[in-house]
Amino acid sequence: MPYLMPSLMPSNTLVLCGVIGNPIEHSQSPLIHQKFAQEFNLNLDYQKYCLTQETLRPFIEEFFARAGKGLNVTLPFKQAVMEIAKNVSKESRLCQSVNTLYLNENNEISGDTTDGKGLIEDLKSKSFEVKDKQILIIGAGGATTSVLYALVKAGAKITLYNRTKSKVEKIRDYFHEVASSIKLYSKDSHQLFDGIISATSQFNSELLSPLLKNINTDTFIYDLNYKERADDTLNFFKQNGIKQCSDGYGMLIAQAAKSFEIWHGVLPKII
Ligand code: ATR
Repeated sequence: MPYLMPSLMPSNTLVLCGVIGNPIEHSQSPLIHQKFAQEFNLNLDYQKYCLTQETLRPFIEEFFARAGKGLNVTLPFKQAVMEIAKNVSKESRLCQSVNTLYLNENNEISGDTTDGKGLIEDLKSKSFEVKDKQILIIGAGGATTSVLYALVKAGAKITLYNRTKSKVEKIRDYFHEVASSIKLYSKDSHQLFDGIISATSQFNSELLSPLLKNINTDTFIYDLNYKERADDTLNFFKQNGIKQCSDGYGMLIAQAAKSFEIWHGVLPKII
């Protein structure tokens, strides 16, 4: 196995990783990371940790002080950990979101986000290249901001749409550095979209109905939610003749693979 990093050479050394959030019981990350670890013969201890705002900082500092290798971060701490990490990537800073904590070469707690890269990777695996594509994103919460910058950087032309319009106006202003690639949706628009990404937490048929004039049967529909939480939105589009619909499960795997790569230096297979 000549491509393995020294830290991944088969050994009995236990590598400590985990995911922090609240609630955390539902997290699939331990299963996903153990699967990746098998591929590289890595002896991985990956646990779920349910934290509070009070225990967040002491837990993270102690975890890394005790030779922890890496932590994934989920709701509601993706923004709060930015104040704990000594360094955060440019993408994380812009998205106000960290989902991966690690120690850099100076042993400083550092943060990055792999959500956007995971989405792009999953779309690519489904034969949807985002470069130069017209993509409408529905929603204006943390899920939208965590993928927006990566999509723009990968060359997508973004249109934002949300029940509460003031929130998408805020997002466009916030991302002024890439504002030329971000428009706001108008219900009068007849523009055709190559892809629609749903990033809302609830299904709302009234919100989706105006979009039917902006899509054709080849438009790719992607819901960042996965499994049954994506069913209503995907069924709405399927019932309106759309052929390519996907939930966000592949993104979950792909963003985990990118975190794994940050910690262990090798990228697992995601199919
Ligand atoms: P997340 O951080 O996961 O993105 P969030 O910050 O709660 O979650 O944002 C959820 C998004 O789903 C918001 O854009 C919200 O719309 P509003 O900004 O108008 O609140 C959207 N959303 C939630 N419930 C909705 C509903 N019933 N209909 C339409 N949009 C909804």
